[in-house]
Amino acid sequence: LQGVVVKNMSFKVGQTLTITGIPNSEATQLKEVPYPFCLCALLFLSCSFVINVGNSEDDLALHMNPRFDAHGDTRAVVCNSYHGGKWCEEHREGGFPFNQGQEFKINITFTKEQFLVSFPDGSEIHFPNRQGDEKYKYMHFEGDVRIQGVEIK
Ligand code: GAL
Repeated sequence: LQGVVVKNMSFKVGQTLTITGIPNSEATQLKEVPYPFCLCALLFLSCSFVINVGNSEDDLALHMNPRFDAHGDTRAVVCNSYHGGKWCEEHREGGFPFNQGQEFKINITFTKEQFLVSFPDGSEIHFPNRQGDEKYKYMHFEGDVRIQGVEIK
């Protein structure tokens, strides 16, 4: 597992998780490319990062994946959950309040029914809390981002 992992935290219904960070400005990586294709790979530079909230690596209630350019998406925030070794149904909502090299701030709250992700520009993402848990203990950040602050209040 790459990136930053937080275990044994306590993020409960009624609390706000605030994450600040900066997407890498030269966020180009070659991912999972077999050697003979490395020249072709230069045409497929990808850039995205991930914020996961859940119970464990295999049990993610909220996977939020801002994609500057990845998996065929350009400037889209893709959300999903992951249970039993499988991704569930993807959810795409709203604009793309991120810019490479510019600080972002994300506020996340949740109820038994849904996660609410809000941004300083007023845009929001509503994602169903599919497990319906009222407390999550695991967080994971990875990809083309420098996380600067994580706070639960
Ligand atoms: C996949 C991608 C995963 C995750 C998932 C979300 O295509 O490989 O990292 O973002 O989409 O549905």
